[in-house]
Amino acid sequence: MASKKVLVTGGAGFIGSAVIRHLIDDTDHSVVNVDKLTYAGNLESLNSVSDNPRYAFEQVDICNGVELKRVFAEYQPDVVMHLAAESHVDRSIDGPGEFIQTNIVGTYTLLEQARTYWIQLEGDKKASFRFHHISTDEVYGDLPHPEDDILSANPAVIPTEAEGSLAGKNLPLFTEKTAYAPSSPYSASKAGSDHLVRAWQRTYGLPTLVTNCSNNYGPYHFPEKLVPLMILNALEGKPLPVYGKGNQIRDWLYVEDHARALVLVATQGKVGETYNIGGHNEKQNIEVVKTICDILDELVPPQNVIPSEVEGSSNGAKPINSYQELVTYVSDRPGHDMRYAIDASKIQRELGWTPQETFESGIRKTVQWYLDNQAWCQHVQDGSYQRQRLGSKQ
Ligand SMILES: NC(=O)c1ccc[n+]([C@@H]2O[C@H](COP(=O)([O-])OP(=O)(O)OC[C@H]3O[C@@H](n4cnc5c(N)ncnc54)[C@H](O)[C@@H]3O)[C@@H](O)[C@H]2O)c1
Repeated sequence: MASKKVLVTGGAGFIGSAVIRHLIDDTDHSVVNVDKLTYAGNLESLNSVSDNPRYAFEQVDICNGVELKRVFAEYQPDVVMHLAAESHVDRSIDGPGEFIQTNIVGTYTLLEQARTYWIQLEGDKKASFRFHHISTDEVYGDLPHPEDDILSANPAVIPTEAEGSLAGKNLPLFTEKTAYAPSSPYSASKAGSDHLVRAWQRTYGLPTLVTNCSNNYGPYHFPEKLVPLMILNALEGKPLPVYGKGNQIRDWLYVEDHARALVLVATQGKVGETYNIGGHNEKQNIEVVKTICDILDELVPPQNVIPSEVEGSSNGAKPINSYQELVTYVSDRPGHDMRYAIDASKIQRELGWTPQETFESGIRKTVQWYLDNQAWCQHVQDGSYQRQRLGSKQ
């Protein structure tokens, strides 16, 4: 395939940086990374590729149309991969304004600049231009949970031929046809942005694609999210806060598998289509936390870890025998969705994508990565975020 110039928004974030490392390391495409560098953006995640002549960085807010216009004119991209977003549900509960601004107004601004640029292109350059919007499965709301009375669950979810099997029960999965029913300010703002992208395709003919993906995990994940939070807290003997009963189910996908899927869709997907991306790995949050504890018990046995901040503990607290002793159940997140699970058969059938990692192999790699990259963890937390609880205000 001819090499393309890819404009990636949000490339200093968790998934965006994985996409850029994949584009630079495994393809001939070149990249311009457009990122505002919020608390979640970290250029250190791109150290391995930042000297490559096929990589460029522009610190730009996607809400700034003038700057975006300059970037389009200067770099003449063939493909836009739009990942920039405010992405943390708990933060969206404390402060939804930033989510509306970046996820909705920012996406609108980017769409308009992409359209203005695309309209004046000619020939092959115009015909092959693509705008790929990266979204989440959270736009669909939640699915019936194995512990539910199925009839009382989200009525927008119609059980289809795509049924997942969990604990012996056949429960529905999200397909590309599932109706939107977002629950949080985050997922509602992403749903809004998905609708804008599809409207720009239908109304203006902008060649767009949308992907909706399940929960990602892997290296370079900001420590406010479940997996890195648990690893880093455990190593310091801090409580491992599990929301509610910890029985919320997510479908976990290793971030590098997601990055491969995204580049495939951006370069080979069919214009106007939506592709769901998932890992076929439904796990309850508590299972994820216990798995992390088991791997840590094996890799860094906790002989010298003394629990801190655990209720009832004193300075004379004894070292723990297993990191699982640090699990602490806390009040649930308001509006917390109980189950997400993806039917990824379309992308498999039409583009030949399947995940390469199992949950077991991916989570082991992830734990090892955090053990080997403590400096990165330290640097990204040098700002205001200190792993405090977010999103519990109402
Ligand atoms: N993390 C997941 O599990 C997951 C799953 C499915 C979909 N997604 C979607 O994938 C995308 C990337 O998610 P992530 O987990 O990498 O997010 P992230 O929070 O790690 O990174 C977001 C990046 O966007 C940048 N950004 C934020 N506001 C910006 C603005 N106004 N202008 C320019 N840049 C801005 C940040 O600096 C950061 O680098 C998001 O759109 C998210 O909705 C994430």
